[in-house]
Amino acid sequence: MNNKQFEACQKQVNLSYSPYSNYKVAAAVLLKDGSIITGMNIENASYPLSICAERVALFRTYASGYKKDDIVSLMVYSNRTDSYPYPCGACRQVMSELMDLESDVIVVNESKKEDVLKVKDLLPFAFTKENL
Ligand code: THU
Repeated sequence: MNNKQFEACQKQVNLSYSPYSNYKVAAAVLLKDGSIITGMNIENASYPLSICAERVALFRTYASGYKKDDIVSLMVYSNRTDSYPYPCGACRQVMSELMDLESDVIVVNESKKEDVLKVKDLLPFAFTKENL
């Protein structure tokens, strides 16, 4: 596990805006240049408008001028010790678009046990630009 990426998640999770679920998630994109771009879940009183930590981190990455070839991995973190923040279907679709299918998604919680999956394994048969 990359400690810098884990610590970035531990810090960012404090900014989670999750008054409805009280489920706090953070995500951190590790880039090939060594920098880290974080995100956290941001909820809304109109529940479906809420956004997951993973998409905030990936959108911030692209908004900062980086592309999929710049990304090493995406870490998804929950500060719980009893459950893991496996990414939702919407986030898996966004990962399939914005990340290399061979790159790693690291699912981790405060107990520091991790599960490492490739984007292609999180969403087999993804709908991609090749389908258009
Ligand atoms: N959530 C994430 O941010 N990422 C995940 O991987 C799982 C779920 C958020 C969405 C919502 O704000 C809260 O967790 C409960 O579903």
